[in-house]
Amino acid sequence: MKKVVILISGRGSNMKAIAENVQTGNLQNHCEIIEIFSNKFNAEGLKLATKMGLKTFSIASRKQKNYNELLFEHLKKLAPDFIILAGYMKILNAKIVKHFNRKIINIHPADTNLHQGLNGYKWAFENKMSKTKITVHFVDEGLDSGEIIDQIEVDISNCQTLSEVEQKGLKIEHKFYSECLLKIIE
Ligand code: GAR
Repeated sequence: MKKVVILISGRGSNMKAIAENVQTGNLQNHCEIIEIFSNKFNAEGLKLATKMGLKTFSIASRKQKNYNELLFEHLKKLAPDFIILAGYMKILNAKIVKHFNRKIINIHPADTNLHQGLNGYKWAFENKMSKTKITVHFVDEGLDSGEIIDQIEVDISNCQTLSEVEQKGLKIEHKFYSECLLKIIE
């Protein structure tokens, strides 16, 4: 049974989907979530995690000047087999990435070869793309530049609004992320 920590910054819908799959889905008996961590005390996802009976922890990245150092020490203490980023909107520093080499995984709502950083669905929508991709990748020291684990195409040709694109994409993310995680964990 692999020990995983999930890092979030906000809503936590991917975290919820993974946690449900650990409880009753494809990740059951493959991993155990040892903590949901957030860099924001008031992240909606933390409330959700508590409701699901998961252990939560938070260090406020805005208030702590040595945030990265504190996070590094915290993660070392937890000693997870994998660190799963699920809407974690901060860049992990080089020390953390090196220490947990090939153990940190992220989901990105675009093709990381074409778009890095924030607002992946907005980028696809504003560029009037008929399809986009979701990428699951290892985290390295760059911005969304780590080795790609897998990608899935999303047909957004029928979406009239950004919100429709997001809804369609997120629904796919929720299933796809756990499928990719299972491959890595195995
Ligand atoms: C998801 O769409 C995820 O792919 C994206 O943020 C959203 C988080 O939603 N991540 C990034 O943009 C990372 N660069 P959630 O908090 O409901 O899981």
